[in-house]
Amino acid sequence: MTFLDIEGLSKSYGMVGALSDVSLRVARGSRTAIVGPSGSGKTTLLRLVAGFEAQDSGRIVLDGTVLAAGRDAMPAHLRNIGFVPQDGALFPHLDVAENVGFGLPREMTGRAARIDALLDLVELGPALRARRPHELSGGQQQRVALARALAREPRLMLLDEPFSALDTGLRAAMRKAVAGVLAKVGATAILVTHDQTEALSFADQVAVMRGGRLVQAGAPDELYRRPADRGVATFLGDAIVLDAELEAGIARCALGRVPVDDAARSGKAAIVVRPEQLRIAPAGADGSGAAARVVGVEFSGPASTVWLALSDAALPEFAVSCASSECPKAGRDVRVRMEGMAHVLRG
Ligand SMILES: Nc1ncnc2c1ncn2[C@@H]1O[C@H](COP(=O)(O)OP(=O)(O)OP(=O)(O)O)[C@@H](O)[C@H]1O
Ligand SMILES: [Mg+2]
Repeated sequence: MTFLDIEGLSKSYGMVGALSDVSLRVARGSRTAIVGPSGSGKTTLLRLVAGFEAQDSGRIVLDGTVLAAGRDAMPAHLRNIGFVPQDGALFPHLDVAENVGFGLPREMTGRAARIDALLDLVELGPALRARRPHELSGGQQQRVALARALAREPRLMLLDEPFSALDTGLRAAMRKAVAGVLAKVGATAILVTHDQTEALSFADQVAVMRGGRLVQAGAPDELYRRPADRGVATFLGDAIVLDAELEAGIARCALGRVPVDDAARSGKAAIVVRPEQLRIAPAGADGSGAAARVVGVEFSGPASTVWLALSDAALPEFAVSCASSECPKAGRDVRVRMEGMAHVLRG
């Protein structure tokens, strides 16, 4: 069931069009990740939903309540939406515990214990609780901002790159903790991230933005397997995009004849192959696939990255992962075969 319904939302700052006709639906209790290049309108979208900014046109409906329509907008403090801004935006004159407790009523019973529990959750020890924001690292500030936003158990949490200043291990732990808390309180979340792995693993829905528009939204595996265009394909992982001639579910391309996921299309088209679909075989094998040369090998423990150049196609070199024990040496001629289906791009 739709919990948050965004319809035709647009916003300009003077001459700059920041958001253009964006529509997105978010299910109750779900997690949506928004990805897209810098300046594509991700923060603007969150700020409009939170009510920190007024839209030029469009509608936002949250759980049956109209938050914004046309030029009218409900004030931010009436929306009960948690927001973790990109820079944390802590109150500089308050210490950590006071920042976290900011939204909790002073007279609330168990207030101090609640603040402690929230700080435990984001793994900030007792030693930090009396510090001011300027005495914290960037990652610690982000965690305080996260605890502050969680304090009032909002029905909708908006997180603008909340983990960007954390190192990999802490980032994964924090992501898991936040996902756990959100599930526990039944909150719905929208997360902006630059990290495609984070988007694909955190979210039930991924929305890709570009130039103020929402280019594609859907389940992570759907977007990964069937990106709408080259931009989405390359944004969500390594992708090899090839020119092809289609006929009856087969593409003729630089990799030879490969099956595609659109049997109805024919003629010229662009197709996408993910590197994990490619297998490397010795040059003298049965002759299927395409001839290639190993131009470089990067050893990284159990798996190695093999850089390949196709022998007779003007295609940039591409990387394929290969078990190190079976990895060919640089300079070798090999054959490359594709498994599964290539995806045909629209248009
Ligand atoms: N207050 C503002 N005044 C003028 N222009 C703005 C303002 N806020 C954002 N913009 C412009 O709107 C566009 C979208 O900005 P936004 O902050 O939404 O991008 P973003 O996708 O969040 O980028 P990033 O990944 O760098 O955070 C950009 O061109 C930006 O310069
Ligand atoms: Mg931003």
